[in-house]
Amino acid sequence: MYLHPPKTQTPHHPITPSPHYPITPLPQPNETLMKNLKDLTIVLTGASSGIGLESAKRFAEAGCKVAMLARSEDRLNAAAETVRSLGAEVLPLAVDVTDEIAVAAAFTAIQEALGPVDILVNNAGVGFATDLSTCTLEDYRAIFDTNVTGVFLCSRAVLPDMKSRKSGHIINVSSVVGKVTNPGAPLYCASKFALNGYTSGLQQQVAGDRIRVSTVSPSAVDTAYWDGRDVDRSKFLQAGEVADAILFIATRPEGVLIKDMDLTAQR
Ligand SMILES: NC(=O)c1ccc[n+]([C@@H]2O[C@H](COP(=O)([O-])OP(=O)(O)OC[C@H]3O[C@@H](n4cnc5c(N)ncnc54)[C@H](OP(=O)(O)O)[C@@H]3O)[C@@H](O)[C@H]2O)c1
Repeated sequence: MYLHPPKTQTPHHPITPSPHYPITPLPQPNETLMKNLKDLTIVLTGASSGIGLESAKRFAEAGCKVAMLARSEDRLNAAAETVRSLGAEVLPLAVDVTDEIAVAAAFTAIQEALGPVDILVNNAGVGFATDLSTCTLEDYRAIFDTNVTGVFLCSRAVLPDMKSRKSGHIINVSSVVGKVTNPGAPLYCASKFALNGYTSGLQQQVAGDRIRVSTVSPSAVDTAYWDGRDVDRSKFLQAGEVADAILFIATRPEGVLIKDMDLTAQR
């Protein structure tokens, strides 16, 4: 049993310390139960807005060196400035994750500037409504190239070094629609199903190398993803709430793997 020390101690106070009735201090948050992220190098794709930007802020506050990837340079630089203002070393790189050569060059630059990558958050993703009877091959490719191929290219860029160091964590941002389809956006659903299959296979393949591979699967989140669509976002998850989940996954102690975290709003 834990007892607070009494505010005013009198000789007759029932919980005055005594050899027969010792006061046990309240438990403090046990830092050994959390992985300390200070000075680790983290790469976030899709870091210029939404879940990626909120995650970048949290990793910066945890003391990480943060590499931020996205395509639109102006938006990315503005986001990087916000994260830098939190005191972190930040490297923004305007990269399309679907471009094999650009991805390889970006990860070389990250390694040189910030050191080996400890954590990769594959967050860049796109989705939109598709009518399967009319959608174009370009639509199909835009979704699969970003949501699946991009994850493959970025993961492949970090895996050899993680394997040789027997350490590392890859966290993939999937979606609830990677488990349950909906009729409005079947290609987006299919891409997240594919991402989940990729993630699960990678998890099994690198477990022996002590590399952790996790998925976070949120329901709808109030971000730019929904801009231009006629939907009520008032009960959606907030990007910061998903970022909190990503940070939680990353801070589990070595030897503990959160394989997949489902996240939904309950408001
Ligand atoms: N919002 C939701 O309801 C929801 C729910 C579940 C899962 N998710 C997933 O969460 C992730 C983040 O989405 P979000 O909601 O935060 O959307 P968001 O605010 O639109 O952010 C998407 C980010 O990805 C970047 N991006 C897109 N395509 C890219 C590419 N080819 N290469 C590099 N960066 C790229 C965007 O920047 P640029 O456009 O400048 O490249 C932006 O930084 C996605 O994987 C999405 O599928 C979202």
